[in-house]
Order: sequence, then C-alpha cells, then structure tokens
Amino acid sequence: MPGVVVVGAQWGDEGKGKVVDLFTERAKLVVRYAGGPNAGHTLVVGDEKIIVRLVPSGILRTGTRCVLAQGMVIDPDRLLGEIDELISKKKLDHDSLASRLTVSDRAHAILPYHVAIDSLREKGDAAIGTTKRGVGPCYEDKAARRGIPLGAFRDLARTEKLVAAAIEAWSPVAKALGGELPSPRDVMDLVRRVRDRILPLLAETSAVVNDALVKNEDVLFEGAQGTLLDLDHGTYPFVTSSTPTSGGACTGSGVGPTRIDRVIGLVKAYTTRVGGGPFPTELTDAVGDRLRNAGQEFGSVTGRPRRTGWLDLPGLRYAVRVNGIDGVALTKLDVMSGLDEIMVCVGYETPAGRSREFPIDDLATAKPIYETMRGWKESIASAKKLADLPDAARAYLDRIEKEIGAPLDVVSVGSRRDETIVLRHPFHGGS
Ligand code: IMP
Repeated sequence: MPGVVVVGAQWGDEGKGKVVDLFTERAKLVVRYAGGPNAGHTLVVGDEKIIVRLVPSGILRTGTRCVLAQGMVIDPDRLLGEIDELISKKKLDHDSLASRLTVSDRAHAILPYHVAIDSLREKGDAAIGTTKRGVGPCYEDKAARRGIPLGAFRDLARTEKLVAAAIEAWSPVAKALGGELPSPRDVMDLVRRVRDRILPLLAETSAVVNDALVKNEDVLFEGAQGTLLDLDHGTYPFVTSSTPTSGGACTGSGVGPTRIDRVIGLVKAYTTRVGGGPFPTELTDAVGDRLRNAGQEFGSVTGRPRRTGWLDLPGLRYAVRVNGIDGVALTKLDVMSGLDEIMVCVGYETPAGRSREFPIDDLATAKPIYETMRGWKESIASAKKLADLPDAARAYLDRIEKEIGAPLDVVSVGSRRDETIVLRHPFHGGS
C-alpha cells in the first residue's frame, strides 16, 4: 500500500506531527503538497524542541526523504533557517542534505512583499486572522501569473524583472492600506543571498514522487492545515489559500488519483480553530478553557490561543465525503479525561428544518443540536488496546465511528510515541 494521504478533518492542528511520525517509520518519502510556513510542527529532540513550518516532520527519520512539492509556497529564507537549526541540532548534515530534502523548482517563492501585504491587510477591516506569513498574497501572485517559482532563481536577470513587476502590481494595494513595500533592490539582495543554497535542493519533484510509487515504495502525503480551511471546501472566506484536502495531494505533487491507496483523516477528539470565522460548537466557558489548557491549544506559528469546542459529527461526515477518508486517526482523546459529561453535535437546526448535514454555507446562523454522553475521570495514557479504555471513552469512539462512516485506524491517548493504540497501520499491510 504505497500512496497514503494524511489530511486534517477539521480546522487544522489535529495533531498531525505525532501521527505522521508514526506512519513515517517505514515511509521512503514524505511529501508536503500544499500551504507554506503557516503550518507548524513541534519536533521534540531529546530535551530540545524544534518548530518546523516548512520541512515535514519525517526529516527526523534518517531513512526518509522529504519533498516540498510544487503546490507549496516557500519562504526561502525561512527554509534555510529551519535547515540550519536542524543541522545545528544534528538532525541533518550538510553532506546528506540534498538527498534528504528535495524542493520543487515550481513551488512559488514567498518574498518580503508578500509578508508585508499579508501583515498590512491584517491591520485593516478585511482581517481574517491569517498567520501573516505571506501565504495568501503569494498564491494570489501565482494565480495572477506573476508569481516567482523557485526555479526562476536560476536566472537572476529574469528574477529581477519578475520582482520589479510584482512590486509594481502590489504598490497601489500597499498604499491603499497605508503601508510600504520593500524595494526591489532589497528583495534581490535576499534572492542573491539565498540562491546558492536553494538551487542545489531543487528538482522536478513530480518525477521523484512518481518514481517512488512505481517502485512500490511507501509514500506519505502530508497535508497541512485542514479540510475546513480549504479554499474550495472550507468556510470561505475564512480559509487558507490552498487545497489541504486530499485532492490537493494529487494536484500539489503531480501524482494521479490512481496512485493514492488510502486517505487517513486526522480527527481531534474535540474541535479547535485559530483565526476568525464561524465555529458553531465553540465553547467560550470554563470547559473551553479547560480543553485549551489540557490540550495545550496555542498556535505553534503565532502562539495565539486556539478557540475550542465540542466535536462536530456533521462536520466530520462532510470531511469524510470531500476527502474520501478511508480511516481515521483520532488524536488527543486523553485531553477529554476528567469531564463529567461530553456533548457531541449530531445535527443542525437550520431555517429549512433539522438536518444531519453540515451547513457549510449557513454556519453563522445554523444552531447545533447536541447529545450528551458520559465522561470519564481516569487517565487513559497507558491504554494499549481499546478494551483498556473506560466504557464511556469506548462509547464515545463507537459513536464517532458509527456516525461518520469511517473506521478508526489509530487512537492517540497521550503525547508520547508509545501512547498510541494502532488498529491498522497503513504501511504494514493493513494491521
Ligand atoms: P493563512 O493561511 O496564513 O493565509 O491564514 C488563513 C486562515 O487559515 C487563518 O484563519 C489561519 O489561522 C488559518 N491557518 C493557516 N494555517 C493554519 C494551520 O496550520 N493550523 C490552523 N489554522 C491555520
């Protein structure tokens, strides 16, 4: 079973790092196919922590090659910063770098004017709570056909023209927002500074990924963000500017749908969201605070407290549908320990009546319908199989599995690698 996509089923931050780490034990390639430095994983290396935003967490496994595919937008300066940190912490070395990390020459470069525009917009009325890393404006340039693929850095004269044209196009926008853009000269200084180290990492990565699949090697496509942040399928306009859903694995890495064998949906045992936008099951009370603190729900890119809420079963059914989810990795079940009761959203009250559907276009007005389930008090971190869990926790899992129509493959009961119940490993022949 070589081609496996791991995709967030909610608004991102479902605990991808741990699940990807578990699955990459055997994977030859880990491919990031969308987004940019708006994502963030905390890698724990001994007593030290490294936060990576661009490099997949598979980089910690020496037998794994990481690919940043062409659906991504890449801030070259940040990428080099991450590489340097990984090298200084002895997780990468200069000799093996080019064989461990490959970057698409068609991934677009996030340059300082993208970051400037993103930040200026976030100060104004149109703010949606972005991560201010320049992701949206970079994808806008790509769609407007004035973007700069990293491969363009091979030709400095061409890059200089593209930079000048892009800055000219963004200037009126910056002026209207009351700000300024960096000069073309400053941007070109940056390009010259990073170019010699970026160019050796570049390749036509679609060939790399397809070659591995043809050889029947295990390839993990690592989604970033989550289904409800997808540009097409999310809570527009409160979305990111890329395609985190599973179809993005194909378009974003140049692989046909026939090559994907399994789609795993990551589901956090409750719901979180960072940034603005509707969130019907949000908790603004002490229970929400409790979930935030127990689950350490603070953004790894911006440090912002995440909004927290109950699980939304119609939302998960929607995610199963738009991604074709075959199996679920349920994370952070341990965070729910200690609650007297747990509410689950089972449907919505809409102007058209009650519905089991997720009202994607009416989320701001639809009212969630809840059912109350029993909570459990005991710690569950030592559970090695489902039978070790308290009855109430098992009932919660059974309910999720039954309602969303996809089986549980993995249940995470603690933050450590061994605090995981694996029911079906996608790269171990199904068990
Ligand atoms: P952008 O991707 O920085 O443009 O932000 C657009 C929206 O997506 C904002 O609501 C962000 O908070 C959200 N977002 C982007 N990346 C992530 C992520 O990795 N986890 C959760 N939310 C994210």
